[in-house]
Amino acid sequence: MTAFPEERFPSLGHRTEQALFADRGERPLTLRGVTEADLPELLRVDREAFPEEPYPVFVLRQLCDIHGDRILVLDDGEGLLGYILFVNTSDGHVSWIMSLAVTPHQQGRGLGRRLMVEALRRLRTEHVHQVRLTVEPTNAAAIMLYRSLGFSSDEGVVKDYFGPGEDRLIMTLGM
Ligand SMILES: CC(C)(COP(=O)(O)OP(=O)(O)OC[C@H]1O[C@@H](n2cnc3c(N)ncnc32)[C@H](O)[C@@H]1OP(=O)(O)O)[C@@H](O)C(=O)NCCC(=O)NCCS
Repeated sequence: MTAFPEERFPSLGHRTEQALFADRGERPLTLRGVTEADLPELLRVDREAFPEEPYPVFVLRQLCDIHGDRILVLDDGEGLLGYILFVNTSDGHVSWIMSLAVTPHQQGRGLGRRLMVEALRRLRTEHVHQVRLTVEPTNAAAIMLYRSLGFSSDEGVVKDYFGPGEDRLIMTLGM
């Protein structure tokens, strides 16, 4: 039997899970699980937020196939404004924020914070002991956001984490 788009990625897109909120008098925003139909928009948002190193199509496609229940999107009814991808280690004790993106013309309006807060809220209902992420040491906006949510950077910068010249700051949050 053919699955509806909302059933394509497991445990996603259930209308009961959707959080609707109006955004400063503009179109209502929906924060919901990703569906297969979102893929083109997801790719667009990712390319716009990470113009130098977007996910290749096949990677994002397979991340949706494998971790679709771990991708939340912000939808204003006409398109996606942002997304977050968070994946747990196989023992379920640690979760990694693998990607957080808000399309550039929507940045600075609290949307990145909303995505993070919702991901952390969901993780608090699980047996996750720690949330981890990497961030470019020069990405002041992201680092400020993570710090404001309680993340610390005690582990510091790992040189060449993603290859030569691609240092990353490791940030962690105890749950
Ligand atoms: C990082 C990112 C997700 C933040 O999302 P956003 O919607 O722009 O951020 P918000 O409006 O929710 O702001 C949350 C906090 O981030 C910080 N912040 C946001 N923009 C900032 C800026 N230009 N300078 C400094 N701090 C900033 C502030 O601490 C802010 O908190 P405040 O609103 O209480 O001041 C977004 O800028 C983005 O997608 N950037 C490109 C991709 C990226 O770098 N992703 C993170 C990879 S680790």
